[in-house]
Amino acid sequence: MIAALDIQVTKSAKSKIDEIDFNNLPFGKYFTDHMLEVDYANGEWKTPSIRPFQNLSLSPALAAIHYGQSIFEGIKAYKDKEGNAFIFRPYDNFARFNVSAKRMCMPTVPEEIFIEGMRQLVALDKDWIPMKHDYSLYIRPFMFATDEVIGVKPSDTYKFMILLSPTGPYYSAPMRIYVEEKYTRAAKGGIGFAKAAGNYGGSMLATAIAKERGFDQVLWTDAFEHKYVQEIGTMNFFVIIGNKAITPDLEAGTILEGVSRASAIEALKELGYTVEERPISIDEIINAHKAGELKELFGTGTAATVSMIQELCYEDYSMKFDTSTWKAVPAVKKLLTDIREGRKEDTRGWMFRV
Ligand code: COI
Repeated sequence: MIAALDIQVTKSAKSKIDEIDFNNLPFGKYFTDHMLEVDYANGEWKTPSIRPFQNLSLSPALAAIHYGQSIFEGIKAYKDKEGNAFIFRPYDNFARFNVSAKRMCMPTVPEEIFIEGMRQLVALDKDWIPMKHDYSLYIRPFMFATDEVIGVKPSDTYKFMILLSPTGPYYSAPMRIYVEEKYTRAAKGGIGFAKAAGNYGGSMLATAIAKERGFDQVLWTDAFEHKYVQEIGTMNFFVIIGNKAITPDLEAGTILEGVSRASAIEALKELGYTVEERPISIDEIINAHKAGELKELFGTGTAATVSMIQELCYEDYSMKFDTSTWKAVPAVKKLLTDIREGRKEDTRGWMFRV
């Protein structure tokens, strides 16, 4: 076990914070002054270090580059009105990170490194947490294989790191989504439930084609029939039909067990909606639309938070919505944002004090 004091801290000589325009923060573009880094070798994690954000020197034979043993998480930190820093549900992301690690044949990361390392890093770069509504400090923990050998096998050595990036809203307008039927993101028995880098690389072609046609993202469907909806590239998916909110269940292991998804389910219930986690087919969505019962659609994710969908297009059937009249999605977003930004009491213990 590594105690908090075992983290070696080297502070940067000069902060870059004054070079950043905090009113213009595209997602993932700017990084704070420091990063956390820790190596795994000989079956154990070494002493973590926090040091100035800088490039790494890596071998071109690095195992992660060739065979994709690389996983990550996305978490956000906020400040309340008094300027106290909090991290939203870090233990849930910690648990999911180690689920991903096991699936990708990588070592698990101990809580002391993941949580305490993150806490110390965020505390050091606390001034970088934006205080503007809907803005936050995005936390990116990740791990990759570092063996310098191109034989196909699980690496013996790894690097775990955490970067911090101040960020504004991921989508500035409600999204236009294309239902994908040709390409597949994940099949049963695959790695769809893991936050593995390859899941994102594999999704880029379909997304690029959808973007050429004016859409923001694709909604993935199941690998066998392309009939049941799964998740949107960077988000879990919800529909409201009548007074029921429905989101695909996690049973098949093909979608990510989103922390924002779980939070939205609790928010919907608090707001009086019945929530069903179950398979949902594109036919059910289209039939609800034809019957005038398809009320609201949205995606949830750490980066995207709660994002409205203004258009869902399946083949040549386009379902368009006037999102300005919606009630449920803005209410879910408000409830969660109010907890995150300290305007609503955190009765569930979601906010971790830094
Ligand atoms: C997140 O929402 O944190 C994600 O990881 C999605 C995307 C930015 C890769």
